[in-house]
Amino acid sequence: MAILKIARMGHPVLRGVAAEIADPTVPEIARLAADMRETLVDIGGAGLAAPQVHVPLRLVLFQVPPERTTGAEDDLPLDLTVLANPVIEPLGEARELGWEGCLSVPGLRGAVPRWTRIRYRGLSVRGERIERIAAGFHARVVQHECDHLDGILYPQRMTDLRLLVFNEEGMRYPIDLGAGVA
Ligand code: NI
Repeated sequence: MAILKIARMGHPVLRGVAAEIADPTVPEIARLAADMRETLVDIGGAGLAAPQVHVPLRLVLFQVPPERTTGAEDDLPLDLTVLANPVIEPLGEARELGWEGCLSVPGLRGAVPRWTRIRYRGLSVRGERIERIAAGFHARVVQHECDHLDGILYPQRMTDLRLLVFNEEGMRYPIDLGAGVA
């Protein structure tokens, strides 16, 4: 296994559309997933997408630590999930604002509108079909990671760039997003 180098905003791999994985059960994908897992554990993030490690394939990893759950229905703690070829479908029209950071945009955070509830599906690296309903932080991290597969970084989703701040300043001068309804 190996800790992989993270691509940062400006690298073209983060702007491209990643390719479908023909067979997520091949050893190359298992190795990529294991390396991405090791990288994520080393850096300590909530999620990682393959383009962020310079691999333009549709593979994402994410987890929901207990302290990040919002208390919303369908927002439960989740162990690290590896998903190939994920597809997202919003459930309802509701969106909410919440803070996001990204390993490819270090040092910053921004308030991003996301679907409140989604259904997502994809394949595990064992070829099993995964389908879940998610809300709150769980829904947010999945939308963030899947955006990477289409070359989208979270600032592109922001509707108010005044809410793009350095982490240190954000801690010094907290911004209340209110109800957070976008
Ligand atoms: Ni990211």
